[in-house]
Amino acid sequence: MPLVVFETPGSTSIEIAAPDGIRLIDLCDEQPATVPFSCRSASCGTCRVDVLEGADLLEPPADEELDVLDIFGDDPARRRLACQLRVRPGPGRLRVRPADD
Ligand code: FES
Repeated sequence: MPLVVFETPGSTSIEIAAPDGIRLIDLCDEQPATVPFSCRSASCGTCRVDVLEGADLLEPPADEELDVLDIFGDDPARRRLACQLRVRPGPGRLRVRPADD
């Protein structure tokens, strides 16, 4: 079961043992994670997060996610849309922080 760490600058981080295969957006809805959402469908970019650790625990981005990241000039190797992420099963640690730009 992977561990997901949500970091917020100037605040305490939250660590959650994530059920295998859970969508990150569902985890945020169930826990007091500090990731903002708006469209929830890869359109607005509100949920952009920096992936600080554990990118290998995420499925690769689909074309819709890549299109939004491209609009913001984001590198998909280090920044993703939290509304599109699913956590792969298995051990490991995923650490994310809401984008600050
Ligand atoms: S909430 Fe709009 S792109 Fe994720």
